[in-house]
Amino acid sequence: MITDYQYRKSWSLFPTGVSVLATENNNQFFGMTANSIMSISLDPKIIMVSVGNKRTIIEYLKKDKEASVSILSKDQIDVADFFSNTDNKDNSKNYFEYKKNIFYVKNSLCHFFCKIIDSYIIGDHTVFSLNVLDMKLEDKEPLIWYKGNLNNKIL
Ligand SMILES: Cc1cc2nc3c(=O)[nH]c(=O)nc-3n(C[C@H](O)[C@H](O)[C@H](O)COP(=O)(O)O)c2cc1C
Repeated sequence: MITDYQYRKSWSLFPTGVSVLATENNNQFFGMTANSIMSISLDPKIIMVSVGNKRTIIEYLKKDKEASVSILSKDQIDVADFFSNTDNKDNSKNYFEYKKNIFYVKNSLCHFFCKIIDSYIIGDHTVFSLNVLDMKLEDKEPLIWYKGNLNNKIL
């Protein structure tokens, strides 16, 4: 019998970067801290994101909608905390850069601006495929999620 504790603990030993998945609805931005992301195709450039079916953002993630994935830098612990908190879904505008209809988290290490092309439900999550339309990379160090902590030392 595999316990949830065992399963979670095992995955907590797999270090990842940290991103914010964001979309826009009625002139308001919705963001969610996410580490279940990966690049799944180079040509075309497609990112996969896994979102819990009970997350607030999920009702705004529809086919053909635009969404951004911002990879957070080492000094953005406050941003990861903000977008992982259920109570912080309003007043998030200050965290975003909004230029020529492109939106992403300010000061991130890298952002990808995308269009949602597909989704499918797997267990208690929905996996979204995002086609990358635009991106920008900055010369910064990444924020790391490891052992359930941000910027914990990897030994
Ligand atoms: C480092 C980190 C990574 C996370 N990654 C994911 C993820 O990939 N998918 C997901 O659905 N939730 C993820 N979460 C949890 C969501 O960020 C969090 O449950 C959500 O923002 C809570 O707001 P809500 O209740 O309004 O949806 C992560 C949280 C943290 C701290």
